[in-house]
Amino acid sequence: MNQPQGQDLQLLNESLELALAQCEDFAPAVFARFFERRPTATALFEVPDTAMPPLGCGQMVFEIISLLLDSAAGKPYVASYMHQIASEHCAFKVEDPTLYPELMASLVDVLATLIGAQWSPAYAQAWERQSSRLLDSLPARALTCPASAAGGTPA
Ligand code: HEM
Repeated sequence: MNQPQGQDLQLLNESLELALAQCEDFAPAVFARFFERRPTATALFEVPDTAMPPLGCGQMVFEIISLLLDSAAGKPYVASYMHQIASEHCAFKVEDPTLYPELMASLVDVLATLIGAQWSPAYAQAWERQSSRLLDSLPARALTCPASAAGGTPA
């Protein structure tokens, strides 16, 4: 692993520890923020109770964080797993590629809010760099769902 990647991994882990010290389960907050940023995306989820986060959202946030950490650590499986995720998500009607950066930005918003005064430009830059890196492993064609030749319908 090269040095900037190693530093990012450390910054990601440090900021996650600070956030978890404030809130053990911030997955519901990530979805609340995501739905604030993209209200129409609620239609993609089964939401049995609007006061509750969608089913399966905890696992999704856990996997996104694991992928960001493993991508920062240079683990080779990440790119092919991201392709698999994108193709599986076509079955969930997640066809708009802009939803991916939006969900990651929602995660970062929640971390920054939880960490408050201890959030720093170094954390912000590390999350931004690693989110872009993870999204770069998703070439446009991997996000093009079979039924949507034009690249998907915006959610
Ligand atoms: C790297 C990004 C992502 C990862 C790793 C990820 C991971 C997952 C996982 C592990 C599941 C659970 C699958 C299951 O229950 O069998 C899931 C479900 C789902 N994901 Fe994602 N996801 C990502 C991005 C997104 C985005 C951007 C959206 C857009 C809204 C989305 C929408 C959904 C939906 C609608 C489901 C089905 C939930 C349900 O059961 O109703 N995901 N995702």
